[in-house]
Amino acid sequence: MKRGILPSFAFGVLLLAGVLLFVSTSSMRQEAERLATELTHVKDSVAVLLQMVDSLKVHTPGLGEYMSTISLHTAKLWFAGQAANWKLATYELDELEETIEAAEALHARKNDIDISAVLQSVRQTQLPMIQQAIDKKSLRAFEQAYRQTLAACNGCHQTVGYEFIHIITPTREPVTNQQWKVGK
Ligand code: HEC
Repeated sequence: MKRGILPSFAFGVLLLAGVLLFVSTSSMRQEAERLATELTHVKDSVAVLLQMVDSLKVHTPGLGEYMSTISLHTAKLWFAGQAANWKLATYELDELEETIEAAEALHARKNDIDISAVLQSVRQTQLPMIQQAIDKKSLRAFEQAYRQTLAACNGCHQTVGYEFIHIITPTREPVTNQQWKVGK
């Protein structure tokens, strides 16, 4: 009788192991299926994100577009200063600063020159000089700082091989639908 117990015990253990193996492989299969479904979802999401990145590339202004905006604010800034409209001058200077900052984020390189680094230097060196002149309400200091800023603009254009883009103090208002002097 004692001899009969051992094989049936062994058989019981084997059976239990078999059942456990079956249960665990089927739950592994379920887990694998779940992971596969999740992976498909992730792949779909990545495809959507890539499409969004592509459309952002199309809609993001390039350096040339930012430069046109920079140029417009620079021109308006001159007339605000000439009219001693210091609030407008501050506003245009802020807009100029913001646009330069946005252009910096493009991390453009031209002729091996890090455009962002040079733009940042203009933003942190020449523009504060204009702000100081505005704060002092000094037209003389304003004109001086303004000319130094233009020298920085043209200095970069020259360095990166765009010397044919030469910025000057404007000779005419950039728009005719805006008043420069203070008051109505
Ligand atoms: C760090 C270098 C750099 C600085 C500083 C810089 N520019 Fe430029 N600018 C460029 C480059 C590069 C281009 C050509 C961009 C392109 O089209 O790819 C350009 C183009 C331009 C253009 C031509 C845009 C067009 O489509 O007609 C104008 C206008 C301009 N810049 C004005 C300015 C003014 C104003 C400043 C100063 C307030 C300035 N830039 C400062 C690098 C610079």
